[in-house]
Amino acid sequence: MKSLNPCFVANWKMNKTGSESKTYLRDFVKRLEQSSSEQHADVVLAPPFTALSSVSEALNAIQAEIGLAAQNVYFESSGAYTGEISAQMLKAIGCRYVIIGHSERRSLFGESHADIHKKLKAVQDAGLLPILCIGESMQERKSGKTWSILETQLKLGLGYNIPDQDLWGNISDGLIAYEPVWAIGTGEPPIPSEVAAVHQKIGAFFLEYTSHQCPRILYGGSVSEKNIGAFMKEDSIDGVLVGGASLSPESFHKIVQTGAATKARR
Ligand code: PGA
Repeated sequence: MKSLNPCFVANWKMNKTGSESKTYLRDFVKRLEQSSSEQHADVVLAPPFTALSSVSEALNAIQAEIGLAAQNVYFESSGAYTGEISAQMLKAIGCRYVIIGHSERRSLFGESHADIHKKLKAVQDAGLLPILCIGESMQERKSGKTWSILETQLKLGLGYNIPDQDLWGNISDGLIAYEPVWAIGTGEPPIPSEVAAVHQKIGAFFLEYTSHQCPRILYGGSVSEKNIGAFMKEDSIDGVLVGGASLSPESFHKIVQTGAATKARR
């Protein structure tokens, strides 16, 4: 069953060692404890693989209500796959979520739609929640292909082309993150109403093609303390996936605080 809480995910990408992560967490948790607007918000941290166990142990020690996410996963459960990490390993370390199909993985590491679908399935089979990222490039946007690109990413990522798939469209407990590639790390996000229109189309897609509820939909790409309020005012934006601005506990806390307070007023 889909949660109604707004969701704030910090994607640290390839930043922070285990000890830097613990320092961040101490500061961030102190800030959370001093404010109350985040009570009905899901907060998730996605450190790099090497910091997952430090963050997991620190979260357990303080019993913090913060979810742990991995930034990637391999789709096999075990075996001779040098350098890869399975969903079962992530679960054993305390992860609840896994980011799948981030545009950096698609473009820099050649992840295909088929890889992404296999990862989604592996994550769900392990009882973890996927955060499936989709997004169009600037060139695709300029040539008017935004929706057809997103639709293809959704269909193939969710396994529409695979016959007899119970999984098809069933990620109600997970999350979709709409991240236009051209907005990631550029400081130039789209206007919130444009994002809201895309999110509504994603909702309509679930209605048209699947018998499952549409999951919560996050926006990602140059989210900051300054623009979070405007994004969260949109009913169809259920939260955000934050890269650069999540690296400072102060700024990620402000994003969570302002974002949760804005949603609570709606
Ligand atoms: P950004 O990254 O917030 O630095 O633009 C977002 C992301 O890539 O998830």
